[in-house]
Amino acid sequence: MRTSTTRRYLMCPPEHFTVTYAINPWMNPNKPVDTALARTQWERIRGLFTDFGHQVDLIDPVPGLPDMVFAANGATVVDGRVLPASFRHTERIPEGPAYADWFAAGGFSDIHTPRWVNEGQGDFLVSGGRILAGSGFRSDRRSHHETQEFFGRPVIGLTLVDPRFYHLDTALTVLDDDLIAYFPQAFSPGSQEVLRRLYPDAVLATEEDAVAFGLNAVSDGRRVVLPQSAVGLAAELRFKGFETYGVDVSELHKAGGAVKCCTLELHGAPVFAGAVR
Ligand code: ARG
Repeated sequence: MRTSTTRRYLMCPPEHFTVTYAINPWMNPNKPVDTALARTQWERIRGLFTDFGHQVDLIDPVPGLPDMVFAANGATVVDGRVLPASFRHTERIPEGPAYADWFAAGGFSDIHTPRWVNEGQGDFLVSGGRILAGSGFRSDRRSHHETQEFFGRPVIGLTLVDPRFYHLDTALTVLDDDLIAYFPQAFSPGSQEVLRRLYPDAVLATEEDAVAFGLNAVSDGRRVVLPQSAVGLAAELRFKGFETYGVDVSELHKAGGAVKCCTLELHGAPVFAGAVR
């Protein structure tokens, strides 16, 4: 019923992952983080992607950048063009150039230097021909226009209003070219209306599943990897014909992240033949 397409992802091993500062309501530097367990949880996500036949590229983690595991934030890539992130918080600013350097070294030639704060695919999600863009907590609204101009794709600006869902990818997930799932209350009334008009058939997530970071999911069109505690959403997705793969993200969740946060999709970049199965 559902068809998958081969994807190319960039991930960053959580070697230096921990919580030493708090820039979202989930982070508590006084709460211990098990870095070894985070690594196991992250390996499971990567293992699923490679089992599915997707190409997973890796970027070297940089000591002193504990949030660098959240590769989704590193850039937005569409049609092989790269818009590196420009982070809002001082603690994460050095990640922007680190990701930009990876793309330059990897032969990506069309790399734009960001002017406005944008947190990559944390706030910019490709949905069919358009890009859904979040603002309210992290990405500057002006980065939406910058993104539209650079990629030449329509950008739909959406306003996030609940600090627990500070990045778009914590409140909305793209399941295939024309289907999304989202938690309506994370958005302003106007943005809820926009989403209703554009996606009348969308899957609406409950608060319980949203808090479990169920919307921080990665879909290849058929298989959806998501936090295992988002059981209601997983059941709904299976009802819609998707295969669901629940994973334990207890440690990543302590930083306010989960599956999608760890995954930067390189839309439109060539996939190496060896990766295709
Ligand atoms: N601690 C990180 C931050 O607050 C988590 C980022 C999660 N990434 C994401 N794509 N939502 O920036």
